[in-house]
Formats: sequence, structure tokens, C-alpha cells
Amino acid sequence: MEVIKAIHDRRTVRMFTEKPLNDDVLNKILEAGIWAPSHGNTQPWEFIVIGPNTRRKLSETYLNMMENGPLKNPSFPEDRKAAIRKFATNFGDAPVLIAVACPPASNDMDRYDFPLTAGAVIQNMLLEAWDNEVAGVWLSFGINPEAQSILEINEGGFIGGILAIGYSSNIPAAPPRISVEEKTRKLP
Ligand SMILES: Cc1cc2nc3c(=O)[nH]c(=O)nc-3n(C[C@H](O)[C@H](O)[C@H](O)COP(=O)(O)O)c2cc1C
Repeated sequence: MEVIKAIHDRRTVRMFTEKPLNDDVLNKILEAGIWAPSHGNTQPWEFIVIGPNTRRKLSETYLNMMENGPLKNPSFPEDRKAAIRKFATNFGDAPVLIAVACPPASNDMDRYDFPLTAGAVIQNMLLEAWDNEVAGVWLSFGINPEAQSILEINEGGFIGGILAIGYSSNIPAAPPRISVEEKTRKLP
């Protein structure tokens, strides 16, 4: 697939079929992750492939996070709340859950660059997944001490994202993008 086509067509998916994801495909996705750029080629990331026990704990934490966040908002539509609760129960039954994490940074440069690098890793992974007909969602846990403890991430480290990935028969339409013109500022 052309890179630009994968970039355009990749969609966030929150519902998955029962089809399992085999190790070859999973390895391709991880392999794409390690080719992300990093400051000074530091490659600070770590992948955590999440098994069933950890998933159970994480989904409780995620649901709590949602209950104390968007689900508390009275103006949030009820159908969206129901969809979030359904997804949170078992991450949409995604066959694979992977966290991309970074260790504690020991200087300002790393504090700034580690999250950027984690983002590049995750985008690489999502594009490679898409090229293999695998879709998913990039879940943001913020700085959630409970999630960090479940994933055995040292204090000061962070979760760049948790990817719930698998096959889906329900690819949504692309959410609109703001044009390049509106997003571009030119300086003399
Ligand atoms: C840093 C980041 C965090 C995100 N966190 C969540 C999340 O917690 N839950 C979720 O359902 N989607 C999450 N998303 C997915 C976005 O909602 C999605 O990318 C956006 O709506 C655009 O849709 P598209 O990916 O199909 O183009 C996240 C995306 C990014 C880049």
C-alpha cells in the first residue's frame, strides 16, 4: 500500500471481530514501531504485550477513569456513554492489547522528546497494522498511577498509549480534517 493511502485511509476502530491476530502480523506491527525516529537514536520505548489478567485489571482502571471523566458529564450524549461503557468492559474485545511506554527521563531533553518519540512509534504501528488489514484504537491513559502500576512502569515513566488492535468489519467514515491552509501560518 502506498504510504499516503495508508495515512489517509487508516481509521480508529473500537469494535472488533473474533478473528485472532497471529504472531507474524503482531511482529510486523512491533517491527514497524522500532523504526520510528528518536532523538540521538535513543530508542527509549518499550512494548508491553498485555495478557488476560493484566487486561482485566486495566479495563477496570479504564472504566473508572471514564466514570470519573466523560461519563460524569451530564451533557455527554447517553448513546456515547453507553458505547464507552461497552468498549471499556473488554476493550471492544480486541484480540491484542499493547502498551507503548517510555522510562523515566533523566534530563529536560528526554522529558520533552520521549513522548514525541512514543507518538511516532505508535503511528508507525497503526499504519503497518492498517497495511495488514488490522485496525485499532490509540487509548490515552494520561498519567494514571494505577495503570502505571498494573503495567509495572517505574515512577516517572509514562504510557505513550495503549493500542487495542484486531480485525473489524465496522470501519467508520473519516472524521473531517481542517484544511492545510487553515492550519498553516507563514512568517516573513
Ligand atoms: C494521543 C491520542 C489519544 C487518543 N486517545 C483516545 C482514547 O482515549 N479513546 C479513544 O476512543 N480514542 C482515542 N484516540 C483516537 C482519536 O479519537 C482518533 O484518532 C480521532 O478521533 C480521529 O479519528 P481517526 O483516527 O479515525 O482519523 C486518541 C488518539 C490520539 C492520537
